[in-house]
Amino acid sequence: MCGIVGGVAERNLIPIMLEGLKRLEYRGYDSAGVAIIDAEGTLVRRRSLGKIKALDATIHADDTPIAGQIGIAHTRWATHGVPSEANAHPHFSNDQVAVVHNGIIENYQQLKAQQQAMGYAFTSQTDTEVIGHCVAEHLKQQPDLLKAVQAAIQKFEGAYALGVISVTDPTRLIAARKGSPLVIGVGIGEYFIASDVSALLPVTQNVIFLEEGDVADIRRDALQIYNQQGEPVERQVRVSSLSAAAVELGEHRHYMHKEIFEQPQSVSDTLEGRVTDKTVLVSAFGNQAEALFAGITQVQIIACGTSYHAGLVAKYWFEDILQLPCQVEVASEYRYRNPVVLSNSLFVTISQSGETADTLAALQQVKGRAKQQNLSVPTLTICNAPESSMTRESDLVFLTHAGQEIGVASTKAFSTQLVSLALLLTSIGKVQGRLDAKREGKIVKGLKKLPGLIQNALTHEPTIQALANRFADKHNCLFLGRGTMYPIAMEGALKLKEISYIHAEAYPAGELKHGPLALIDETIPVVAIAPHDDLLEKLKSNLQEVNARGGQMIVFEDEKSNVSSDGTFTVVKTTSNVGRITAPITFNIVLQLLAYHVALIKGTDVDQPRNLAKSVTVE
Ligand code: F6R
Repeated sequence: MCGIVGGVAERNLIPIMLEGLKRLEYRGYDSAGVAIIDAEGTLVRRRSLGKIKALDATIHADDTPIAGQIGIAHTRWATHGVPSEANAHPHFSNDQVAVVHNGIIENYQQLKAQQQAMGYAFTSQTDTEVIGHCVAEHLKQQPDLLKAVQAAIQKFEGAYALGVISVTDPTRLIAARKGSPLVIGVGIGEYFIASDVSALLPVTQNVIFLEEGDVADIRRDALQIYNQQGEPVERQVRVSSLSAAAVELGEHRHYMHKEIFEQPQSVSDTLEGRVTDKTVLVSAFGNQAEALFAGITQVQIIACGTSYHAGLVAKYWFEDILQLPCQVEVASEYRYRNPVVLSNSLFVTISQSGETADTLAALQQVKGRAKQQNLSVPTLTICNAPESSMTRESDLVFLTHAGQEIGVASTKAFSTQLVSLALLLTSIGKVQGRLDAKREGKIVKGLKKLPGLIQNALTHEPTIQALANRFADKHNCLFLGRGTMYPIAMEGALKLKEISYIHAEAYPAGELKHGPLALIDETIPVVAIAPHDDLLEKLKSNLQEVNARGGQMIVFEDEKSNVSSDGTFTVVKTTSNVGRITAPITFNIVLQLLAYHVALIKGTDVDQPRNLAKSVTVE
């Protein structure tokens, strides 16, 4: 989604804001802009279409680039209005007020009509312009910028994180948050704002997370935060655990490639301190975990995209290994379909960012309903962002220690989500007596082997790279799997479509004959994932169905699968011996590499694919 940076300092903010925007570029990137109040007290702005480097070039094309000690900046991912310079933020009201905004003002059309009738001019198609005009209107009644913003936000329906500056009160930056994340960076004699901590790391690791409804009045040497009721409040300053070095690319060409190769480390980091030799530490889920897990009778998982696929894999595990009912649903459907919330359900959200609007809304909705109906519904988030909204809203938090993920296409977050779900399953099974010590020990042993298994899968990169040539000129592709390999096929198809723009679909292999078999001909590559499991023989028959119809089949198998080919299709051994829990994580690595290499051949923007954003903070 859009990203915000801003600040009040004694130094020129332009380089700081540009660096911050670059670090937020993964959230959205169709256009960007900055506004500062310059030494003459004038509001000056530069905007450009495209990436931050285009904005940087625009600013530095001037003989005397703009400079200022108070400013706001924005990288935009279009929601209302096409990507264009005119729609890029900051938005001005009469060269008096400048605003950057992340979120959606749902009643903007109504406000716009009122403001047009009052004589305000609109120069963009965005919902954001109404914010500036609303603040400007309140400034007419009294010149205090804080009060004007506090009054203005009463009129907005929807979600926002805002940064506002005005020439009428040129030493103050007002920030506000409702439904979209915003952090304040606390420097020495300077303050900053940003959509997430990574943007601030070059200047400070001391941060304050604004809470829902907070408004911050920021001056160079003073900060006061007000809560939703307008009362002054203290918010804790935390030292962020993120480091600036985490965002360096190193020897890799793309973040996605770096993140794929970081997976052995991310997985062992996720396991560290959570398992002993043979056991899982239930307390890793929090002090109350044991008591809460004891009372649950089902698991409800909610997530989006790749995180949803992790949930789907876990459903197979929960029901197969523990015989515990598990439902999994995409958040955007769940939150709007008036679902039945059952008492004694463990409500699990899975999210890399911890800020996905639909997942967060589903969590808030279920909490509200549980309270209203007096239901016992403990909430757990499996999340990669320690300082996110979901971690703050949940009873239990389990952090995936994947490290910061920058590539828009999620890779290492997915593997660590699966590891976390395996630990959750084992913990619940253990607490409820559904899993004996022997089985627990076996799962732990398997998980500990994972970094090595992933390392081994990564050595197959040259083979995958060669196979990628077969996909580059194709328009459609099918991914097949059975059991846990079905969600892995879905994840493989998602990766391919999002970064290579090839249409890819996943099917449970047994479903082929109910329709999709009609698609098969020599123009469609069909990728099948074939571990040696209980379903292998059934899968082999499905593969024959494809082969008989001339499909271009590529089968990824493990060392025990022995899928024999008569030469009409390709079988690649991509992993050593894998078990029920390690197989989906290990096979997925190969599909990540496949998507990456197809995208490389196609020359797409691997880390920032078109139309997509890393953190989807609007619905
Ligand atoms: C795909 C991808 C997305 C995210 C989805 C949820 O590669 O990254 O599908 O998985 O937007 O995001 P989080 O996990 O941050 O809630």
